[in-house]
Amino acid sequence: MSPDNVDYSLMNGPDRFCEVTPEKIDIEPFTMVIFGGTGDLSKRKLLPTLYHLCQDQNLPDEFSIIGFASSKRSDEEYRELVKKAVLEFSEDTFNGECWERFSKHLFYISGSFEDENAFKRLSQRLEELTRRTEKGLREIIYYMAVAPHFLTSIVERLSFCKLCKGLFNTRLIVEKPFGKDRASAAELNRLIAKAFDENQIYRIDHYLGKETVQNIIFFRFANSIFEPLWNRRYIDHIQITVAESLGIENRARFYEKAGVVRDIVQNHIMQLLALVAMEPPIGFEADYIRNEKVKMYSTIRPLDKEYIDTYTVRGQYGAGSINGKEVVSYRDERDTSSSSNTPTFFAGKFYIDNWRWAGVPFYLRTGKRLKKRISEISIHFKQPPLKMFSSTCEIREPNLLVLGIQPRESISLHLGVKHPGIGNQLYPINMNFHYERDFQGKFHFPLPYERLLLDCMKDDQTLFARQDGIEAMWAVVDPINERWENTPAPEFPNYSAGTWGPEKADEMMQKEGRRWHIW
Ligand code: BG6
Repeated sequence: MSPDNVDYSLMNGPDRFCEVTPEKIDIEPFTMVIFGGTGDLSKRKLLPTLYHLCQDQNLPDEFSIIGFASSKRSDEEYRELVKKAVLEFSEDTFNGECWERFSKHLFYISGSFEDENAFKRLSQRLEELTRRTEKGLREIIYYMAVAPHFLTSIVERLSFCKLCKGLFNTRLIVEKPFGKDRASAAELNRLIAKAFDENQIYRIDHYLGKETVQNIIFFRFANSIFEPLWNRRYIDHIQITVAESLGIENRARFYEKAGVVRDIVQNHIMQLLALVAMEPPIGFEADYIRNEKVKMYSTIRPLDKEYIDTYTVRGQYGAGSINGKEVVSYRDERDTSSSSNTPTFFAGKFYIDNWRWAGVPFYLRTGKRLKKRISEISIHFKQPPLKMFSSTCEIREPNLLVLGIQPRESISLHLGVKHPGIGNQLYPINMNFHYERDFQGKFHFPLPYERLLLDCMKDDQTLFARQDGIEAMWAVVDPINERWENTPAPEFPNYSAGTWGPEKADEMMQKEGRRWHIW
């Protein structure tokens, strides 16, 4: 009890937990085939995540994981490779007993993605390893952890060997980028659709597996106080920032062709935009949510050349320093061209021309080698009439709601209150919710791949993109790529690593009478 005899603990939410019964995870025995099972993504993310799921006892007793790649190795050698990956990249402390349990489920097939015989061997292995469920089906997940150009050939061979439907209940997980523009994405969708139905296709975007990203829907639609304000009447503008301090690591071959718009804007940023701007879905089911996203994308105002030149900013990093460490310019990274035109920074203003958002600007920004790794959505409310305070207040800031996605997972509401004292000053304060602090370390925060792999095993497509959604997202960004690729950027590099990007991005906001929330 506090000295004034008020038990504040009763007022503060964090001490009061309601019991949440864990959702029952019911997964049928399955086999997961990882094409590219020895590659970077497999080693860094997929295999450590599967190990973790096994350690947490989230996998059924019967499951198999088959790595499929071109190099020659035995099952035993593959287990060694996976062990190394788990030791190096897993966030869990290594548990020998659990490893013994997990490693028995690992197998390997060596073969080229074009070799039919390798797929016949796969077919045989699948029959040996996967028990039929009560429905008489074998549950199979194919994970495409391969460069996009292998996709069609793998799907064709799976189809030729009759490994897509029939007695196999299969799912296909496809990594981003899905195509390189709308036309290629549509073509890819068409080719995959020859072998798989839409309800078998899981187009993965790891941003949707982040706890705070999923929370956007809960926050918006499970509270009555924000949704009535969530529109053009009360919101001045919205900003979405996905800032990275990392450079392109060793991915120049991919990045030189992709650039920032294909790497981040077309997928991660568009997903965040959809969650913050879409209409309430009629239920928490994959298609209800995905319908609303697609509707939202199709109301984004199309961008023409003049608009792109005025309201978007591209950048490429020069040398600089991040956290006291010198880093090279993009053009000096291994395998990039010394005259590369590839953008590593994007900022732009978008409008959503529907009843809710008409006239409200959405400022989207992302870049590599920026000052800090931070992703957030900030909702800037309109300033109320503050005439009554004009003679007394110096600080008058509009209300601001910040949804922090990373590194700190949080929600903060910035309000104005009276500063204590005999004067009449308005004072800005924050009401904060921090996931880690407020759930007091009581819960395990699943990593994005953990959540997404489990959802796929459970046959839940809610956090995966649908074919029309992918194409609609490309339709939004295609004009930007087209314009930028057809007009070289003589000003590149135009920002130093370790800054918040090109000055033009700040100037764009100044001209609008606004500024970036993070700067
Ligand atoms: C990936 C991009 O999709 O997302 C990378 O290809 C980027 O370039 C990464 O670094 C960022 O993910 P996160 O989860 O670290 O924000």
